[in-house]
Amino acid sequence: MNAPRLAAVIVLAAGEGTRMKSSTPKVLHRIGGRTLVGHAIAAARAAGPEHLAVVVRHERDLVAAHVAEVDSSVVIADQDDVKGTGRATECALAVLPELEGTVLVTYGDVPLLAGETLLALLDEHARSDSAVTVITAHLADPTGYGRILRDEDGTVAGIVEQKDASDEQRAITEINSGIYAFDAAVLRTALAQVGTDNAQGEKYLTDVLAIARSAGGRVSAHVIDDLWQTEGVNDRVQLARLGKELNRRTTERWMREGVTIVDPDTTWIDTDVTIGRDTTVLPGTQLLGATTIGADAVIGPDSTLTDTEVGDGAEVKRTEALLAVIGAGATVGPFSYLRPGTELGAKGKIGGFVETKNAKIADGAKVPHLTYAGNVTIGEGANIGAGTIFANYDGVSKHHTTIGRHSFVGSNSVLVAPVTVADGAYVGAGSAVTEDVEPGQIAVARGRQHNIDGWVTRARAGTKSAEAAQAAAAGRPAEDAGAAARHTEHSTEGQGHA
Ligand code: UD1
Ligand code: CA
Repeated sequence: MNAPRLAAVIVLAAGEGTRMKSSTPKVLHRIGGRTLVGHAIAAARAAGPEHLAVVVRHERDLVAAHVAEVDSSVVIADQDDVKGTGRATECALAVLPELEGTVLVTYGDVPLLAGETLLALLDEHARSDSAVTVITAHLADPTGYGRILRDEDGTVAGIVEQKDASDEQRAITEINSGIYAFDAAVLRTALAQVGTDNAQGEKYLTDVLAIARSAGGRVSAHVIDDLWQTEGVNDRVQLARLGKELNRRTTERWMREGVTIVDPDTTWIDTDVTIGRDTTVLPGTQLLGATTIGADAVIGPDSTLTDTEVGDGAEVKRTEALLAVIGAGATVGPFSYLRPGTELGAKGKIGGFVETKNAKIADGAKVPHLTYAGNVTIGEGANIGAGTIFANYDGVSKHHTTIGRHSFVGSNSVLVAPVTVADGAYVGAGSAVTEDVEPGQIAVARGRQHNIDGWVTRARAGTKSAEAAQAAAAGRPAEDAGAAARHTEHSTEGQGHA
């Protein structure tokens, strides 16, 4: 059997989606990091059609712009004032070239439909040499769906909508998923004959089946067990339900690829994320957008990485990162905040309570504690002391700071940009550095220490501090006077360890 060519996939997305109660069009709501229509387009693309059309109407400009962004070769078809899935399909055919072969119709609000299911539908359609093949499923509660009508011999005779069905027909539990394969010529001819004489006054795509049958075509059903794949989103409860199931499928897929996910229930992985083998994802972790994780990494717990790249063997603990790059073998966290433009080199470190932005931190460089690093280049092997602040903003503009290779910035320093600390240079702790430091120099930019004798005993007379100072001056431990007196007899013991 030779599969006929797949001339087109038509994705219907013109409906209003009022039950979402949203100013965002329904098909632009997201699960797994992708819009509902984005999922539909991905499945359609996977089937390999010559043409791909999306039918729009409600919030037409927003949906069309998004679709073009997702896939610029999608043809946008505008549905007119005539309502119904049949009319939507007709409007798509009108803007596509005259098609020959098979046309698939899917929905923009059915996000779990897989490309493989469309391929299986095509296969069944070709194998049975049908004019129309519809994906159906058996539901315990078929309320609301179109029901599949079969002849006594079991062949599909047509579909009746819930609102048009008799009590007897409503008892049928085999439902229309709304996903079909059509012979292009049959579809075109039949749609021209479909009217709007039904309970909803709409032009039903479902009517094509009976018309094709009476024209002598074969109509078949491709029954699927995986009900999730036919489920549409109509409200936010379903959005969450399908989002959770999508995530269950995504986490399961990665576990089967060799990723350890300790708690799939609290791990959220977007559809486009990739993860290498033997990586461990700890509870409470969200890997979002186009994030990529290498092999043998440990991510989490409680981390959210968005559009972030993590190298092999890196460890990222309790971290928020957006548009960041974390090198192989690097360590990040706990409690780190990596903002866009952060690039941490191999075996580098960004430690606790460190915030970075536009920070290029070279291989083996370390920013271990309590630092803000914005607009910086930090050279290989450099060490940034605890509490260092890269002051990049003067109230008007941002400026850059460069720290050279194997340089050392002492704790609690402020580097006031623009400033450069050369390769192999030091900055003394507590410095406010405003001028460049040359190779091999140490910059000490703070008030010189100045000790004033006897200040506490004079200015704070009678305090415990003053007593302690006096006791210390007399060579006694800093305790109350009575105890100090008793202690003097044994003081040699204490001093023995000095
Ligand atoms: C439709 C089917 C029904 C099937 C159900 C499966 C028809 C007449 N009925 O019912 O047999 O069981 O889907 O979910 O086809 N759309 C348009 N333009 C329109 C109307 C709808 O593009 O004028 C799109 C919607 O955006 C949506 C899809 O078609 O993506 C289905 O529309 P919906 O109103 O949900 O169809 P139902 O009437 O529920
Ligand atoms: Ca629906």
